Amino acid sequence: MRVLASAPAKVILFGEHSVVYGKPAIAAAIDLRTFVEAELRDDGRIRIEAHDIKVPGLTVSFSESEIYFETDYGKAAEVLSYVREAINLVLEEAGKKTGVKVSITSQIPVGAGLGSSAAVAIATIGAVAKLLGLELTREEIAKLGHKVELLVQGASSGIDPTVSAIGGFIYYEKGRFENLPFMELPIVVGYTGSSGPTKELVAMVRRRYEDMPELMVPIIEAMGKLVEKARDLITAELDEEEKLRKLGELMNINHGLLDALGVSTKKLSELVYAARTAGALGAKITGAGGGGCMYALAPGKQSEVATAITIAGGTPMVTQISREGLRVE
Ligand code: PMV
Repeated sequence: MRVLASAPAKVILFGEHSVVYGKPAIAAAIDLRTFVEAELRDDGRIRIEAHDIKVPGLTVSFSESEIYFETDYGKAAEVLSYVREAINLVLEEAGKKTGVKVSITSQIPVGAGLGSSAAVAIATIGAVAKLLGLELTREEIAKLGHKVELLVQGASSGIDPTVSAIGGFIYYEKGRFENLPFMELPIVVGYTGSSGPTKELVAMVRRRYEDMPELMVPIIEAMGKLVEKARDLITAELDEEEKLRKLGELMNINHGLLDALGVSTKKLSELVYAARTAGALGAKITGAGGGGCMYALAPGKQSEVATAITIAGGTPMVTQISREGLRVE
């Protein structure tokens, strides 16, 4: 028996970093996916094949070069640790000791801040659970995905595995989520070409927070309030144009606050300003920062903004919000 599962990448629309301090955040799944095929092995061994990352001893065959930017050993090894922990947790949950083979292919750039690790963890949990006959809800799978992140990263709010398992738009706070009404967001994601190590960035913000609480607490508080405002806007009965314009304004404020936390870089700021100059209503970092990605809200201007991001030295991805979270076939 073989089971195929897939899970989407995500963008954090508002509230990265402050979510680690118990504030809310809003994230959306996007239409890049990681696919995991799982099958039983009767020799009791665990085998992981990754078709998109170069690691000695693993099969390498992925070639979607336009969305695959980096393939280095460190990142590949990191992906493997998420897969290993995910398999172990499901075996433990099912109370079974059996050999499993998982094969991974992915459209999600690794280490770009688009949640590739969470997507691979969620797809692996979904595939292996079904293979072992374990009935888990998406919420339970999201919780196991959060456990995987905690085991591999140390600190994590759990927002990435939750949005990857659930799909669509979610409002997330302290391990709980709420689905927000679906809306089409004309966004462009811009990749800086380098990755931001989430674990180190979260630790760096924590040091600043502990060193200067009198400055950092109000910034985190402001981020929390900003997310509440964004949620009110998303759920309000407003004219679409006005809604997008106001959301853009909130994105710009959120970017400024993230810059104040110290997680922006010259390249991220260049892409953000290039997008705004080309007509985006708003642009900000998405994810941990320190490299990785920004995103811009650009109704009617997606191709202009994509070009501006390219000229500024980034790699643009015109993408859609995905309603679908984990899919198990
Ligand atoms: O690096 P990403 O895109 O997975 O973003 C992580 C988001 C943070 O808020 C920085 C960390 C977290 O665990 O929520």
